[in-house]
Amino acid sequence: MSHAAPVPLTARRGGPLRGRVRVPGDKSISHRALILGALAVGGTEIAGLLEGADVLNTAKAMRALGATVERSPEGVWRVQGVGVAGFAEPAAPLDFGNSGTGCRLAMGAVAGAPITATFDGDASMRKRPMRRVLDPLERIGARALAVGEGGRLPVRLQGAHDPVPIVYEPPVASAQLKSAVLLAGLSAPGETVVVEAEATRDHTERMLAHFGATLRTEPHGAHGRRITLTGQPELAPARVVVPADPSSAAFPLVAALLVPGSEILLESVMTNPLRTGLIDTLREMGARIEVAALRTDGGEEVADLRVTASALRGVEVPPERAPAMIDEYVVLGVAAGFAEGVTRMRGLKELRVKESDRLAATADMLRVNGVAVEIDGDDLIVTGRGHVPGGGLVASHMDHRIAMSALVMGLAAERPVRVDDTAFIATSFPGFVPMMRSFGADLVPGAPA
Ligand code: S3P
Repeated sequence: MSHAAPVPLTARRGGPLRGRVRVPGDKSISHRALILGALAVGGTEIAGLLEGADVLNTAKAMRALGATVERSPEGVWRVQGVGVAGFAEPAAPLDFGNSGTGCRLAMGAVAGAPITATFDGDASMRKRPMRRVLDPLERIGARALAVGEGGRLPVRLQGAHDPVPIVYEPPVASAQLKSAVLLAGLSAPGETVVVEAEATRDHTERMLAHFGATLRTEPHGAHGRRITLTGQPELAPARVVVPADPSSAAFPLVAALLVPGSEILLESVMTNPLRTGLIDTLREMGARIEVAALRTDGGEEVADLRVTASALRGVEVPPERAPAMIDEYVVLGVAAGFAEGVTRMRGLKELRVKESDRLAATADMLRVNGVAVEIDGDDLIVTGRGHVPGGGLVASHMDHRIAMSALVMGLAAERPVRVDDTAFIATSFPGFVPMMRSFGADLVPGAPA
């Protein structure tokens, strides 16, 4: 995928942030709704789909694999699925752009169909590890016919003709990996089992059940789960309501905590307990976040979050919390910079293989803005002094979460924070900049030297 022209932006400190908003739909659930819709027989309806570039690439891929995917003028998405293992062979390589989730989940779905497809993505995606997914998919019966150097994209994958069910223990805590195995396991006879040492987001399991698959989840060890899926179901089309993405809500939420006098309301944010590690951590740091109107919507817990500017103190973040906040460490790093005292975030190895090497990029983002930061093995240690000097130019490395976090930092730092390229924000959070401006955020085009 070509890298469009960079969009530099500068964030400056201003008055309090005020307002209420519903951030866009959850990215994880949006990808899954399209993929499961394509694997069901008949018409699935999706309300609140995230219309970010990552999810739109998954929609295109599902079309290329034979499903019909259409958006109504009112914004409801309709998918006519082709059934488990019913994919057609795509005529051209599938381009997933910046999205690891879309690519790895689609690899799982394709691995269970008797077709061959080529998977590719942008320059950031071409640096990310794919062997972790291909290994279990090959055990199920798929074959990686061609793999880029070092186990990277592009990958040419031949789906299994006779898929076999496996018992799989992922070597890393990864919902993408778990989901790829479960999606491939849909085509296998008998039971496919994934044993997770640490439970990761369970949207695939919840949504498979919603589409009529039979699956059991049992606790495993102190923090894990054992998931057993019965293969070869006929997935029934379903209606999916996508709740607001907590990983997107994280940015206005932290901004409101840091900018004095702020108060914002974030509506209908998903509060699935495997996604709320950031809220737990910020509360331990002294954040005032009120959770109101807790309810269930489309099989997921949602709530309204009222956030009030708060003085924060440093805390220790245990490694077992990482799966429940894996996408939130960058913005937590910003909060930690404004806190009083040391925040030690433990066990962040997986951050090295996200849209960028997020461990290094987060440390650099903080350092160029005058925050004392250290990487110790897989831990990130931030020493906050209650304020951040700012004044730095942040390299976003094609990573939406680095770009948004740096802008949040600039809204509260003493001097403006510049970001070299904010174009990738559109992968997960279209409308981020206007939404922050509607709260009163001072974001100006350009990043002058
Ligand atoms: C996701 C899983 C996580 C997360 C990503 C979305 C998913 O990745 O970082 O943004 O939807 O399954 P890993 O599975 O690689 O940890």
